[in-house]
Amino acid sequence: MSDTTGTDTHFDLVVIGGGPGGYAAALYGASAGLNIALVEKDKIGGTCLHRGCIPAKELLETAAIVRTVKHAADFGVIVEPKSVDWGVVMERKQSVIDKLAGGVVGLLKNRKVTLFDGYGSLGADRTVEIVGGDGERATITGDAVILASGSSPRVIPGFEPDGSTVVTSDEFFQISQIPRRAVVIGGGAIGCEFASTLADLGASVTVLEALPKILPGCDDDVTRVVLQSFKKKGIEVRAGVAVTGHTPDGNGSTTVQFGDGETLETDLVVVSVGRVPYTEGLLRDGTAVKISDRGHIEVDELCRTGEPSVWAVGDAIATPQLAHVAFAEAIVIIKDLLGESPAGVDYSRVPWAIYCQPEVAFAGHSEASAKEAGFDVIVSKHRFGGNSRAQIIGEPDGLVKVIAEKTPQGTGGRVLGVHMVGPWVTEQLSGGYLAVNWEATVDEIAEFLQPHPSLTELFGESVLALTGRSLHG
Ligand code: NAI
Repeated sequence: MSDTTGTDTHFDLVVIGGGPGGYAAALYGASAGLNIALVEKDKIGGTCLHRGCIPAKELLETAAIVRTVKHAADFGVIVEPKSVDWGVVMERKQSVIDKLAGGVVGLLKNRKVTLFDGYGSLGADRTVEIVGGDGERATITGDAVILASGSSPRVIPGFEPDGSTVVTSDEFFQISQIPRRAVVIGGGAIGCEFASTLADLGASVTVLEALPKILPGCDDDVTRVVLQSFKKKGIEVRAGVAVTGHTPDGNGSTTVQFGDGETLETDLVVVSVGRVPYTEGLLRDGTAVKISDRGHIEVDELCRTGEPSVWAVGDAIATPQLAHVAFAEAIVIIKDLLGESPAGVDYSRVPWAIYCQPEVAFAGHSEASAKEAGFDVIVSKHRFGGNSRAQIIGEPDGLVKVIAEKTPQGTGGRVLGVHMVGPWVTEQLSGGYLAVNWEATVDEIAEFLQPHPSLTELFGESVLALTGRSLHG
């Protein structure tokens, strides 16, 4: 079994799966002094690092540079000619991935985590069988086991990926050129990020979404801004339409059928209709771990499976499919394993960050969900158009919306939700995230200063306005 280090066969903890959930459990557990084995069949880093968050954001950065160059003349900088060298784009993306992946492997090795390169499966008494790519086998045991096998893209029948004309996120990062025309099926986080990237890189993009609106879970005011900005980029969003099939023309293009007999010719179809848990071959006879009808590993609020001392983490369980949620779950699990009685992750208040342009970030209730939950709410909305830094950088589209409980005086009480859309909001959410999770009140938060000029002033203004008085807003 290549890459196997060490000769131990029994460990304090065996982790199956080396994505963010698995490697975070290994790193955090090792920092607490546990002797850990990490089993990975592919590359340490998982979907996030190799086929997800990291390459997606890296390509979005190329798209941002293209936008900057396109608008350079507005700032008095003349840059000609403009073109994109796709080979360099791909090389840069890969070098970022390689550096980060090397960093994670280095950290694991420094903490003496034993790495097994192979396919792990759990049997009776926390026994993990490992089959290497070369067929070699090993059997190891753990006092504890964490299942961190992740997820894979959901595929629509008839739209099986071929790697060139039809792709999921697994293949998208290897496309050989920027397509002239692209159809993105599914307007969730992945679909909107890919649509944004492709449009900024010059493709003519259509998003086909089955539900009545894109970005499920986002506040309506936020979605409206994204739709307006997408329209400015030339992205056509068709919501409430189902795709029925496609007919390749034999020359690398295809015609997608959707809605009421409509068709669209395209050079690339990106299928981004969600992800399904990946648990194939993970469980053998003798374990009490259960898989739900929807394919998730069944766990309680502390990520415990039905078998004592076996936990599951990340995309394989039915919690938000976000790398940072997996990190948080990994920490909870290790604390539970060590008997430290942790509280579970509060999934209703985790930070969400979608990196399309304009970016979206939020934590806690939207206005609609707060009302649905029975809160009497007061809302403050401020637009980046009135923010000095947004004007300076030339990105005035977007807003910050703070949703708070209404006090008897009609001002804002406890902060219930903070929703943002606009420039670099994924980097600005932390103040709002802390306010929501600390259950802070508007009066408490309004005392804190924001630097001037800065984009985060808009959050400060939005909170201040809920006290009943304001500066600029
Ligand atoms: P998603 O579940 O967020 O969105 C999929 C969208 O596809 C939904 O709007 C759904 O209504 C639509 N859809 C489903 N079947 C369809 C069909 N046949 N035709 C047209 N539309 C259809 O899934 P997505 O975007 O693939 O992301 C997967 C997971 O990864 C999500 O949990 C997401 O939160 C997470 N993720 C998060 C990111 C972020 O926060 N920046 C980035 C990438 C992924």
